[in-house]
Amino acid sequence: MIIQTFEYDTALAGALATRVIDAIDRQPNLVLGLPTGRTPLLFYAALRDESRARGTDWSRVRTFNLDEFVGVAPGAPGSYRAYMQRELFDAVNIPPAAVGFLDGSAADLDAECGRYERAIATAGGIDLLILGIGTNGHIGFNEPGPGLQPHTHRVGLLPATRAGNRAWFGGDLDRVPGEALSMGMATIMHARAIVLMATGAGKVPAVERMLRGPITTELPATFLQLHRDVTVMLDRAASPR
Ligand code: GLP
Repeated sequence: MIIQTFEYDTALAGALATRVIDAIDRQPNLVLGLPTGRTPLLFYAALRDESRARGTDWSRVRTFNLDEFVGVAPGAPGSYRAYMQRELFDAVNIPPAAVGFLDGSAADLDAECGRYERAIATAGGIDLLILGIGTNGHIGFNEPGPGLQPHTHRVGLLPATRAGNRAWFGGDLDRVPGEALSMGMATIMHARAIVLMATGAGKVPAVERMLRGPITTELPATFLQLHRDVTVMLDRAASPR
């Protein structure tokens, strides 16, 4: 894994935005995997700015987001779909049909997971996947436990993960769904290149184990040690001593 450390989270966000815009310049039909959460907010702000400044053409880009809450309609308040619309899609010329998203309100959630895996495969796989990391080491919504799921699946969220997502539901823990749909570990590991970003002191224990610990389902991000093209971007606060 390549580790890049930045003094400030804003510098990290700018560097990652430049990497993504450069990748679109080189490959206009880039397939991009995208995260949500608090960490990427600065990145999306930088991406909007740099995209506008450089006149980036998103008309052939395709995106697939990592995950979505179960029982939340696409675009409803709290949904990751609404977050992405707000933070990125409204600001760039990506065609709506090129935005890949899990529908947590689908009648048949297993079928929805299968559809998503096929859509990613039909797009030719993910070229560049951006990840955050949960304080418990989850990536997407692949939670720690005795096992991991390879493909897109339905998952029960752990209390720490629900608490970490309160902000999207007005700070009200009771409103945070107990389940989500998420890309699986193989879906993630099949991406051609991966960038994981982490900021803030609260992420140090997870980052330390991800970089130095044994590979274990108890910390899903440790599996990234097996991937051939991973960049870990950290601000100083998130860097293990
Ligand atoms: C959520 C998302 C993850 C994200 C994690 C960390 O649970 N499903 O994709 O990486 O939160 O979020 P934050 O950046 O808010 O710490």
